[in-house]
Amino acid sequence: MMGRQIAQVFAQHGHDVEATDEDQQALKDGIDEIANGPYGVHASVSKGKLTPEQASKTLANIKTSPKLNDACRNAILVIEAAFEDLQLKQNLFQKIESLAPANAVIASNTSTLSLDKISQKISVKDRTVGMHFFNPAQLTRLVEIIRGTSTSTGTIEKASQIVREIGKTPILAQDEPGFIANRLGLTLYMEASKLLEDRVASLQDIDTCMKLGYNHPMGPFELADFVGLETRLRNIESLYNTTNDSKWIPPKILREMVQQGYLGDPGRKKTSKGGYYDYLQIKR
Ligand SMILES: NC(=O)c1ccc[n+]([C@@H]2O[C@H](COP(=O)([O-])OP(=O)(O)OC[C@H]3O[C@@H](n4cnc5c(N)ncnc54)[C@H](O)[C@@H]3O)[C@@H](O)[C@H]2O)c1
Repeated sequence: MMGRQIAQVFAQHGHDVEATDEDQQALKDGIDEIANGPYGVHASVSKGKLTPEQASKTLANIKTSPKLNDACRNAILVIEAAFEDLQLKQNLFQKIESLAPANAVIASNTSTLSLDKISQKISVKDRTVGMHFFNPAQLTRLVEIIRGTSTSTGTIEKASQIVREIGKTPILAQDEPGFIANRLGLTLYMEASKLLEDRVASLQDIDTCMKLGYNHPMGPFELADFVGLETRLRNIESLYNTTNDSKWIPPKILREMVQQGYLGDPGRKKTSKGGYYDYLQIKR
């Protein structure tokens, strides 16, 4: 989900992008979504946000490569956006270090995992950084930059500069569980889940509360469906594993939904049976 969004944003701002994924179908679907998805370039042309020439140029700027080494070879910046799984990201970072040019910045789009831990198997860590984009990256204006213990000031500057170049605002966080955005955002989601579990309010009313009362564009459950429930579960599990704080024990209903294949909005995750509203059979 995030890799293709980030690829589109950089390509729209004139960068050459090489996208890779171990799943070749995901690569094909990604390009299709960049072209024809709800935030893709053709939709942007219809809304008058891009000219047809800009749309074609964006698509021409993105190449796909089934192999990580081809994708990394000439990179000045590598952004890893694989599953939220520590071991997987550690291994990927190690491979990227050996494949990318020595001066390339190595970034992770992790939402909740420690950058220091992700960088554990890397020998020169000063060029590692967190670059946390928000969903949908084509529209959101923020990137959270994470400074690990060994991240150099030069790397922070490079990452912040490129974030400004692609029209977004960087904010800086230390490498603490959940950084800024998920510590705040997931706290809201956990409280919303508790309200639902304790039967204090209905799913609909909790979502409506945050939309109409606080002007959030989506309620906490709608947002969870949008983000993807598997990713949401992995994020909360990772906060629980790193903090051991019972505040982050994943909601039972979230675990049940993921186990049963309810992975969030099927328009965004094709294999999903649906999200909260489908699982609880509630009309919107
Ligand atoms: N979904 C969101 O709203 C959101 C927002 C911000 C950050 N993030 C973070 O972005 C990352 C990706 O999340 P997502 O929702 O896009 O996940 P996703 O499941 O949609 O995509 C992950 C992709 O990683 C690929 N992958 C897995 N292992 C790989 C490997 N070894 N080599 C190459 N590709 C591999 C998978 O094939 C898949 O296509 C996570 O770290 C997540 O926490 C997600």
